[in-house]
Amino acid sequence: MKLLAISGSARAASTNTALLQALGKVSPQDVDIEVVHDLHLLPVFSPDLEGVKTPPKVRDFIAKIEQADGVIISSPEYVHAIPGGLKNAIDWLVSGEAIIDKPVALIHGSHRGDDMLASLRLVLGTVTSGFHQQIFQQFPLISMSPEEVRETLGQPENTDLMRAFIAEFTAAISKPLSQ
Ligand SMILES: Cc1cc2nc3c(=O)[nH]c(=O)nc-3n(C[C@H](O)[C@H](O)[C@H](O)COP(=O)(O)O)c2cc1C
Repeated sequence: MKLLAISGSARAASTNTALLQALGKVSPQDVDIEVVHDLHLLPVFSPDLEGVKTPPKVRDFIAKIEQADGVIISSPEYVHAIPGGLKNAIDWLVSGEAIIDKPVALIHGSHRGDDMLASLRLVLGTVTSGFHQQIFQQFPLISMSPEEVRETLGQPENTDLMRAFIAEFTAAISKPLSQ
């Protein structure tokens, strides 16, 4: 199974990106997780640039979504909202086919950010019928250095939570929402 793990942070030492990379390390061999953490390179969305004018970088991003069996998103909250880069990426998907029915689940690298989570849940529930709102796991990684994140996520209780998250999401993908 192929999962696309999208980080809402463009920060080099991002805790959200590190969380998604750690997920890849604890996942079963038959689950391949590709982490995307360069949403800042996508041009700003405009309906004028859809169709034949879609920029190559956006085409690549949409193709990754199409080819994935499911999408995991981990994002910081910026000023009580979804970071601009992540919202921009979702805006590029809205009028296409790639995101419709695509299984999506959220994981979260902070004990805060409830406003962003509420807004992102509303957006995802709008753009895909495959949003699994109940599949969610939260880790308090805010302000941690990469070393501290590695140490925290390496603790057996957190490794177990990450494995359980992947198991629940991959099982849900194998058994669509309507069943
Ligand atoms: C510009 C900016 C705005 C932020 N606004 C909020 C906020 O409204 N609420 C919150 O809980 N954290 C806020 N934060 C903190 C980030 O959400 C938090 O540090 C997050 O863990 C960073 O994720 P990252 O390590 O993946 O980059 C803000 C950070 C920045 C840089």
